[in-house]
Amino acid sequence: MKDSGSPEISRRGILAGGAAAVAATHVPLADAQTATRSGLKPALAKVEMTVNGKRQAMELDTRTTLLDALREHLHLIGTKKGCDHGQCGACTVMVDGKRINSCLSLAVMHQDDKITTIEGLGTPDKLHPMQAAFIKHDGYQCGYCTPGQICSAVAVIEEIRAGVPSHVTGDLTAKTPISNAEMRERMSGNICRCGAYSNILEAMTEVAETRA
Ligand code: FES
Ligand code: FES
Repeated sequence: MKDSGSPEISRRGILAGGAAAVAATHVPLADAQTATRSGLKPALAKVEMTVNGKRQAMELDTRTTLLDALREHLHLIGTKKGCDHGQCGACTVMVDGKRINSCLSLAVMHQDDKITTIEGLGTPDKLHPMQAAFIKHDGYQCGYCTPGQICSAVAVIEEIRAGVPSHVTGDLTAKTPISNAEMRERMSGNICRCGAYSNILEAMTEVAETRA
């Protein structure tokens, strides 16, 4: 069937053309290790970092993200890949104590950095206080976003304690309060499709108060 007004272009043709364009331009980052174009070999680089207290040496395609290095090379699959575009926070890990979206950072940029993933925060026998609080307050349902939420929550409490201002901080000269508004604002990059936000906030509040 021809589209009205465009006799040469069919709806099927547009869809096929669009799909081909996407396939041609989108090379999944997870495949970066093996991707070659026109016989060119990927550029490899050596990188060493400390992950959860253990020194790790890898030789990676320079396009490999920190997220893929953790999941595909070190098999630390606690860190999740949600959007792979820096929009959901599922891939949040801590680098030298600060949270980042690991899908937006190349692994080779982390030479000698200290990376902490959910596996490094606590163990089933010895939970991190934030992990225990998430369980106590039902801070999750499906759990897919939870590793990123917990890493972010731990870093957020430290950020506030360190006096790092946020968009909602009213007085930059006063001590930043560990308030609902501050925590909500700072956690806004961590999306939970199950909508466990209020329970996550309760868990964070408990940790902030018990360790105040
Ligand atoms: Fe990194 Fe969504 S997977 S922000
Ligand atoms: Fe399911 Fe957050 S617990 S997405």
